[in-house]
Parts: sequence; structure tokens; C-alpha cells
Amino acid sequence: MTKITVAIDGFSSTGKSTVAKQIANYLGYVYVDSGAMYRAVTLYAIQNQLISSDHFDKKGLISALNEIDLLFKFNPKKGFAEMYLNGKNVEKAIRTMAVSNLVSKVAATPEVRKKLVQYQRHMGEHAGVVMDGRDIGTVVFPNADLKIFMTASAETRAMRRYNELKERGDDVSYEEVLKNVQERDHIDTTRKDSPLIKAEDAIEIDNSDLSLEEQFDTILNLVKKAMESK
Ligand code: CDP
Repeated sequence: MTKITVAIDGFSSTGKSTVAKQIANYLGYVYVDSGAMYRAVTLYAIQNQLISSDHFDKKGLISALNEIDLLFKFNPKKGFAEMYLNGKNVEKAIRTMAVSNLVSKVAATPEVRKKLVQYQRHMGEHAGVVMDGRDIGTVVFPNADLKIFMTASAETRAMRRYNELKERGDDVSYEEVLKNVQERDHIDTTRKDSPLIKAEDAIEIDNSDLSLEEQFDTILNLVKKAMESK
């Protein structure tokens, strides 16, 4: 069967990674969570005192970029690849609010984007990949066979993320999560380099009222159509 490249972009906490993982597993494709890479670079910057809520040593981070080694390693128990930063599994550490609060600042840095986009293109050079992020259909793979743009109201997204964080035992409030979602929406859509916008040829899906199953079926149908027309 013809293999295709699927780009899934959209606002934070729209459930992109959940559906991207499901589709990739169903098809036996590689799943790449590009947001995990920006989160891992942010974690490195926090650990090395290059960023905090009131300071960002952008030059310091840019000159340290060569020291940052990112790797996705497949975890068969979980069924997806986990993020490793300089040899250490950081899958849990990159999902904290501390990282969420700073990641969009780091991701607005062109030098950071250049390094990560290079890695993303390398991971997707052979078709048979589902990648999710903010600029996958516009910048990373402008020729992707299928582009999806996911949206939902900020309140719905914040509630989903809040439940996720609570479930894993993080001490957060809904208000704090909502504020973070709104701030990231703002920074991600207004940054100069590769802002979050819907690619002209992307199919928009508002999943505010879709169950996980309905969402999966909708996207799988689009994938099948894209395969047929390739
Ligand atoms: O999972 P969630 O929706 O919270 O976000 P994510 O996909 O983990 O991405 C975290 C942040 O990384 C985003 O808010 C963006 O600032 C940045 N990002 C980006 O700039 N470009 C991408 N392709 C992916 C993520």
C-alpha cells in the first residue's frame, strides 16, 4: 500500500498527539511529536539557568544548541516513542507546567526552530509518518499528502489538559492551565518565524464535540482518501 505523510497542526491541547498516535499505530507508521522536541530544549534551558519566568538568555541558549542531543526511543510497553535529552528519558519532565509556561518563548527562537525542523525533516524523509505540531503542514512538510488543522475552544482544551495533569498527580488549577493555553495560543500565532496558521490546503476539524472514537474515524477516513488519491 502507498505510504503517505500526514501533518497534524493546531492549537495547544487539541488532542493532536492522541489521535496522531492512534493513526500511526493503526497504520504501522512512525509517529513524531514535534512539540516534545521544543519542550526538551526548554527543559535543557531551565536546567542550565538559561530561562526562567523573568529572564531568557537567548544568546546563551543559541550557543548551547550543539550540546543538546535529542532522541526518540520507542517504548514497546507504551506503544510510542519517548523523548530523551542527552541520554536521559525526559518524557514526564517535559510535560510539567514549568516547561509549558516557557516553551513558547523558546519555540519563537529562529535558531532553535532551524535545528529542530532539520531533525523533523530527517525523521520524515521516508513517507509513512504522522507528525504533529504547529508548522508541520506549512514549513516542515509543505508537500504532505494530508494536512489536518485541529481546533477547539480554549476552555475545552484547558479542561482536557487540566484533567490529564490531575490524573498524573500534578498540583495545578484549571485557571492556571487556561491561562497557559491562552498565552501559548497568543505567542504561537503571533511569532515572526513559522507562526501557527492553517495551511491553505489543510482540512480543519473542530473536535470540541467529537468523542475520541469519532475523531479517530473522521481522520482515518481522510487518511484512506489521501492514500487512494496518491
Ligand atoms: O501538547 P501541547 O498541545 O500542549 O503542545 P506541544 O505540541 O507539546 O507543543 C508545545 C509548544 O511547542 C507549543 O506551544 C509551541 O510553542 C511549540 N511548538 C512549535 O512551535 N512548533 C511545533 N511544530 C511544535 C510545538
